[in-house]
Amino acid sequence: MAAPSLMPFFSLALVFAAIPGSLSLPFIVLHGLGGQCSHQGPKNFTQLLINYSGVEGYCLEVGNGVWDSWFMPLEKQAGLICDKVTEMEELKKGYNIVGLSQGNLVGRGVIELCDGGPPVKNFVSLGGPHAGIASVPLCGTAILCHLVDKLIKSDIYSDYVQDHLAPSGYLKLPNAIPKYLEKCKFLPKLNNERPQARNSTYKERFSSLQNLVLIMFEQDAILVPKETSWFGQYPDGAFNSTIPPQQTKLYIEDWIGLKTLDEAGRVKYIRVDGEHIKISNSDMRKYVIPYLQG
Ligand SMILES: *[C@@H]1O[C@H](CO)[C@@H](O)[C@H](O)[C@H]1NC(C)=O
Ligand SMILES: *[C@@H]1O[C@H](CO)[C@@H](O)[C@H](O)[C@H]1NC(C)=O
Ligand SMILES: *[C@@H]1O[C@H](CO)[C@@H](O)[C@H](O)[C@H]1NC(C)=O
Ligand SMILES: *[C@@H]1O[C@H](CO)[C@@H](O)[C@H](O)[C@H]1NC(C)=O
Repeated sequence: MAAPSLMPFFSLALVFAAIPGSLSLPFIVLHGLGGQCSHQGPKNFTQLLINYSGVEGYCLEVGNGVWDSWFMPLEKQAGLICDKVTEMEELKKGYNIVGLSQGNLVGRGVIELCDGGPPVKNFVSLGGPHAGIASVPLCGTAILCHLVDKLIKSDIYSDYVQDHLAPSGYLKLPNAIPKYLEKCKFLPKLNNERPQARNSTYKERFSSLQNLVLIMFEQDAILVPKETSWFGQYPDGAFNSTIPPQQTKLYIEDWIGLKTLDEAGRVKYIRVDGEHIKISNSDMRKYVIPYLQG
């Protein structure tokens, strides 16, 4: 008489199915430049998302944190996270990504370049430099900043700087586009910008997202221009205006599937009040939490 003994399991399963959070996928948080999962900022942010959503979440560290976020090339950073997500039992059925600033390019690197990783469903991007930035963020006064300054003052598109300064991988100077396309090692690849080197796998993977939430901060003084959070950018050769995402070649020619996603109604362009990645709790509940719940 095996049947009756199965009943408790069956009803237990029904109970769990009735709790909204229990069917949600876990999420990961990827911090920004100069960040570290053990620091108050990313730690609180992750915990707050967990508290509000009732879903499992993990801040995934890239290498040793602060130092590697500055000096490890982004493709390598993405590779480390690719290894982690592939190994994590908790993510096997899929997961969501919440990116902070530079962490968004690590996240997109995982979505597009990671072979054999679990599927990413929703990608919530807070202040991501998706179409590049036209100046490197100020470093501050820490010891490591002397090194950063030295690197910035030398040829930003040289192999040496490209291999040793993470933000140089998405520095897109409107007055040096040919050099950027030729020498910049990360963003042109991630955005399928080089005509001879477009990889349809990147597009296929990126356009399979269920939701792409692009959050721009109105008072963002770190991202130049701030519209890069929406894939907006300066026109080639000029710093005085920006072109909206829908008028960029990346969108029109659909290099990575942004247009495909947009036409399917899966891109949310969100504008919030605040400085770079300083999201209020109410905006977090409105624009982030819903995408973490089932
Ligand atoms: C982190 O959260 C704790 C308690 O929840 C709070 O006391 C602290 O000020 C927060 N820190 C930051 C940097 O937000
Ligand atoms: C999350 O909830 C726990 C338990 O209620 C609380 O101790 C903690 O301060 C909360 N953290 C944040 C960042 O809100
Ligand atoms: C495209 O990218 C995928 C994923 O990284 C890779 O496996 C494949 O070899 C690449 N194709 C070409 C033609 O480079
Ligand atoms: C931006 O600058 C370019 C040349 O540098 C000029 O031709 C153009 O009119 C300017 N546009 C605006 C909106 O000021």
